[in-house]
Amino acid sequence: MFKTIEWTDDGVRMIDQLKLPTQEVYVTCRTYQEVAEAIRTMVIRGAPAIGVAAAMGIALGVKNSAARTVPELRADFEKITEVIGQTRPTAVNLFWAIKRMRNALEEFLTTGTYPPDKVPEGVSDLDLTAVIIPRDGSDSDMIAALKSRMVVEAQRVLAEDIAINEAMGQHGAALMPDSGTVLTHCNAGALATGGYGTALGVIRAAIAAGKKINVFADETRPFLQGARLTAWELAKDSIPVTLITDNMAGHFMKAGQIKAAIVGADRIAANGDVANKIGTYSVAVLAKENQIPFYVAAPLSTIDMSLASGDQIPIEERSPSEVTHWAGVATAPANVPARHPAFDVTPHRYVTAIITERGIARAPYTQSLNRLFT
Ligand code: MRU
Repeated sequence: MFKTIEWTDDGVRMIDQLKLPTQEVYVTCRTYQEVAEAIRTMVIRGAPAIGVAAAMGIALGVKNSAARTVPELRADFEKITEVIGQTRPTAVNLFWAIKRMRNALEEFLTTGTYPPDKVPEGVSDLDLTAVIIPRDGSDSDMIAALKSRMVVEAQRVLAEDIAINEAMGQHGAALMPDSGTVLTHCNAGALATGGYGTALGVIRAAIAAGKKINVFADETRPFLQGARLTAWELAKDSIPVTLITDNMAGHFMKAGQIKAAIVGADRIAANGDVANKIGTYSVAVLAKENQIPFYVAAPLSTIDMSLASGDQIPIEERSPSEVTHWAGVATAPANVPARHPAFDVTPHRYVTAIITERGIARAPYTQSLNRLFT
């Protein structure tokens, strides 16, 4: 199995998702600016994977910092997080990861230690002893230890993400049909996360539990994450997958050929409204019209309890050239105006259930999502 992203001694290594499916190549980002660029250009994409990349980018920036004092290091931290925070606005995991790294930095500077009781299950193999320093350490001791601390935290974010996806799979598998076709949109798989996937993780877990599922993957215009990435990763995993264009989904639903739809999310508001890849809203409306359950699988780090409704979710507008061109070839007349909102918001009334690592939330979401955080 490929690794979507990993920490190496040379930097942050990631599979180049712009080259898939024709080439499986890896890039190593050696500076935080290179990580930011990889997120912005979608070498790495998918909300949880963006969160992991952000955490690793911050760790890399701190590790490479030439700061000699703690205040200088704090100033560098602010600069790094500002650059990383400006890459993609919709996936809240980016801002979640920045906050988490900031909390780790502050906690470390306050206590100078890494409380072992906070090590989550399954990640105890990370080298934590390296980051425990005496409380009265000098600035250079502190900076050296803090650099290790940031690297450890970023690796924890990755390890936890995989564990979270597996937990989500366990909760969600029961919702999948025993057999038949499940539709998905965009790529919410191993490529969109640290590994295993959210929506595709649920499908993987259902298949592992013996269910006979095949997947219909929307190609997902205009960036083709379904065609390029979902079809690639499912085929690689020997999971039956059939590629359809986005405008075929309604036809197959009406024909009774789709038993369920499942997608990931980039940000979920407190009322259960879901921002996800452009075209998700159409899938959800079609699903309701055809009495097909529409599920969303997302970790708690994708739920933004600070936003009352999906109307407040910022929607990234990407270059119109991604609509008018493919691989540098024009597919529309020169200079025709085009729009590219990269996400849409599905109102919660279309969402049958939200699958998280802590369990399944159903309407009314304001209550059920709130309960997951308590
Ligand atoms: O623009 P992208 O490819 O980053 O958008 C990705 C999606 O919309 C995914 O469905 C979402 O991030 C969930 S990934 C587990």
